[in-house]
Amino acid sequence: MNPVAAWHDEHAHFLQLLGQLQRELDVFHGAERPNYELMLEVIRRLRELGDRQHHPREEAAFERLAARDPDMQLRLNRLRQEHRVIVQAGEVLAGHLDAILNGAVIPRANVEMAAATYLVYYGNHIAREEEDVLPRAAAALTPADWQAVAAAGPASLQQ
Ligand SMILES: [Fe+2]
Ligand SMILES: [Fe+2]
Repeated sequence: MNPVAAWHDEHAHFLQLLGQLQRELDVFHGAERPNYELMLEVIRRLRELGDRQHHPREEAAFERLAARDPDMQLRLNRLRQEHRVIVQAGEVLAGHLDAILNGAVIPRANVEMAAATYLVYYGNHIAREEEDVLPRAAAALTPADWQAVAAAGPASLQQ
Protein backbone atom coordinates (compact mmCIF):
# COMPACT_ATOMS: atom_id res chain seq x y z
CA MET A 1 0.00 0.00 0.00
CA ASN A 2 1.13 3.54 -0.70
CA PRO A 3 2.59 4.91 2.54
CA VAL A 4 0.44 8.04 2.56
CA ALA A 5 -2.71 5.94 2.09
CA ALA A 6 -1.58 3.69 4.96
CA TRP A 7 -0.93 6.78 7.11
CA HIS A 8 -4.42 8.08 6.31
CA ASP A 9 -5.97 4.69 7.11
CA GLU A 10 -4.37 4.73 10.55
CA HIS A 11 -5.91 8.16 11.15
CA ALA A 12 -9.29 6.82 10.05
CA HIS A 13 -8.94 3.99 12.56
CA PHE A 14 -8.02 6.43 15.35
CA LEU A 15 -11.02 8.61 14.47
CA GLN A 16 -13.21 5.52 14.75
CA LEU A 17 -11.82 4.81 18.22
CA LEU A 18 -12.29 8.46 19.22
CA GLY A 19 -15.87 8.19 17.94
CA GLN A 20 -16.47 5.27 20.33
CA LEU A 21 -15.15 7.40 23.16
CA GLN A 22 -17.40 10.27 22.08
CA ARG A 23 -20.47 8.01 22.17
CA GLU A 24 -19.67 7.00 25.74
CA LEU A 25 -19.18 10.65 26.68
CA ASP A 26 -22.61 11.37 25.19
CA VAL A 27 -24.08 8.68 27.46
CA PHE A 28 -22.45 10.50 30.34
CA HIS A 29 -24.17 13.75 29.37
CA GLY A 30 -27.45 11.84 29.41
CA ALA A 31 -26.88 11.04 33.12
CA GLU A 32 -26.51 7.30 32.53
CA ARG A 33 -23.50 5.19 33.40
CA PRO A 34 -21.13 5.06 30.49
CA ASN A 35 -19.27 1.88 29.67
CA TYR A 36 -16.08 2.67 31.55
CA GLU A 37 -14.52 -0.66 30.59
CA LEU A 38 -14.99 0.15 26.92
CA MET A 39 -13.63 3.67 27.40
CA LEU A 40 -10.52 2.29 29.05
CA GLU A 41 -10.08 -0.31 26.31
CA VAL A 42 -10.32 2.42 23.65
CA ILE A 43 -7.71 4.53 25.44
CA ARG A 44 -5.43 1.51 25.74
CA ARG A 45 -5.66 0.86 22.01
CA LEU A 46 -4.98 4.50 21.19
CA ARG A 47 -1.97 4.51 23.47
CA GLU A 48 -0.57 1.33 21.97
CA LEU A 49 -1.31 2.07 18.31
CA GLY A 50 -0.95 5.84 18.50
CA ASP A 51 1.53 6.82 21.17
CA ARG A 52 3.74 3.78 20.81
CA GLN A 53 3.61 2.94 17.10
CA HIS A 54 2.13 5.71 14.96
CA HIS A 55 3.76 8.75 16.57
CA PRO A 56 7.37 7.52 16.40
CA ARG A 57 6.90 6.82 12.69
CA GLU A 58 5.37 10.24 12.20
CA GLU A 59 8.23 11.89 13.99
CA ALA A 60 10.67 10.17 11.63
CA ALA A 61 8.57 11.50 8.73
CA PHE A 62 8.47 15.00 10.26
CA GLU A 63 12.24 15.03 10.57
CA ARG A 64 12.73 14.15 6.92
CA LEU A 65 10.01 16.50 5.76
CA ALA A 66 11.52 19.41 7.71
CA ALA A 67 14.86 18.75 6.02
CA ARG A 68 13.28 18.85 2.56
CA ASP A 69 10.71 21.58 3.26
CA PRO A 70 12.12 23.99 5.91
CA ASP A 71 8.96 26.14 5.81
CA MET A 72 7.23 23.27 7.59
CA GLN A 73 9.59 23.28 10.57
CA LEU A 74 7.45 25.30 12.99
CA ARG A 75 4.26 23.40 12.21
CA LEU A 76 6.04 20.06 12.54
CA ASN A 77 7.54 21.09 15.87
CA ARG A 78 4.06 21.90 17.15
CA LEU A 79 2.72 18.55 16.03
CA ARG A 80 5.61 16.78 17.74
CA GLN A 81 4.85 18.69 20.91
CA GLU A 82 1.20 17.68 20.59
CA HIS A 83 2.26 14.02 20.64
CA ARG A 84 3.65 14.61 24.12
CA VAL A 85 0.45 16.35 25.22
CA ILE A 86 -1.64 13.48 23.84
CA VAL A 87 0.40 11.03 25.92
CA GLN A 88 -0.22 13.08 29.06
CA ALA A 89 -3.91 13.64 28.34
CA GLY A 90 -4.34 9.91 27.70
CA GLU A 91 -2.63 9.08 30.97
CA VAL A 92 -4.88 11.43 32.92
CA LEU A 93 -8.02 9.97 31.35
CA ALA A 94 -6.87 6.36 31.73
CA GLY A 95 -5.98 7.12 35.36
CA HIS A 96 -9.51 8.39 36.09
CA LEU A 97 -11.13 5.41 34.37
CA ASP A 98 -8.87 2.94 36.13
CA ALA A 99 -9.66 4.53 39.48
CA ILE A 100 -13.41 4.40 38.81
CA LEU A 101 -13.21 0.74 37.84
CA ASN A 102 -11.34 0.12 41.07
CA GLY A 103 -14.17 1.64 43.08
CA ALA A 104 -12.92 5.19 43.55
CA VAL A 105 -15.41 8.03 43.47
CA ILE A 106 -14.18 10.53 40.93
CA PRO A 107 -16.18 13.72 40.34
CA ARG A 108 -18.05 13.34 37.10
CA ALA A 109 -16.84 16.73 35.86
CA ASN A 110 -13.21 15.54 36.06
CA VAL A 111 -13.86 12.54 33.85
CA GLU A 112 -15.90 14.60 31.41
CA MET A 113 -13.19 17.22 31.17
CA ALA A 114 -10.42 14.67 30.69
CA ALA A 115 -12.39 12.80 28.01
CA ALA A 116 -13.54 15.95 26.19
CA THR A 117 -10.04 17.42 26.24
CA TYR A 118 -8.55 14.24 24.85
CA LEU A 119 -11.19 13.99 22.12
CA VAL A 120 -10.93 17.57 20.91
CA TYR A 121 -7.18 17.74 21.13
CA TYR A 122 -6.58 14.44 19.36
CA GLY A 123 -9.20 15.16 16.71
CA ASN A 124 -7.65 18.53 15.88
CA HIS A 125 -4.21 17.01 15.79
CA ILE A 126 -5.24 14.42 13.23
CA ALA A 127 -7.09 17.01 11.15
CA ARG A 128 -4.02 19.23 11.02
CA GLU A 129 -1.82 16.35 9.94
CA GLU A 130 -4.28 15.34 7.26
CA GLU A 131 -4.45 18.90 5.92
CA ASP A 132 -0.91 20.14 6.29
CA VAL A 133 1.41 17.18 6.48
CA LEU A 134 0.20 14.23 4.41
CA PRO A 135 -0.02 16.12 1.08
CA ARG A 136 3.40 17.72 1.62
CA ALA A 137 4.95 14.43 2.67
CA ALA A 138 3.47 12.72 -0.39
CA ALA A 139 5.13 15.33 -2.58
CA ALA A 140 8.48 15.64 -0.82
CA LEU A 141 9.53 12.31 0.69
CA THR A 142 11.57 9.83 -1.31
CA PRO A 143 11.32 6.02 -1.25
CA ALA A 144 14.40 5.98 1.03
CA ASP A 145 12.63 8.40 3.40
CA TRP A 146 9.57 6.16 3.53
CA GLN A 147 11.75 3.17 4.28
CA ALA A 148 13.28 5.00 7.21
CA VAL A 149 9.80 6.03 8.39
CA ALA A 150 8.54 2.45 8.25
CA ALA A 151 11.57 1.29 10.22
CA ALA A 152 11.04 3.82 13.02
CA GLY A 153 10.07 1.36 15.70
CA PRO A 154 7.81 1.76 18.68
CA ALA A 155 9.13 4.13 21.28
CA SER A 156 10.89 2.28 24.04
CA LEU A 157 8.57 1.78 26.97
CA GLN A 158 9.25 4.43 29.52
CA GLN A 159 8.31 4.30 33.20
FE1 LIG B 1 0.60 12.90 15.05
FE1 LIG C 1 -1.04 11.04 13.04
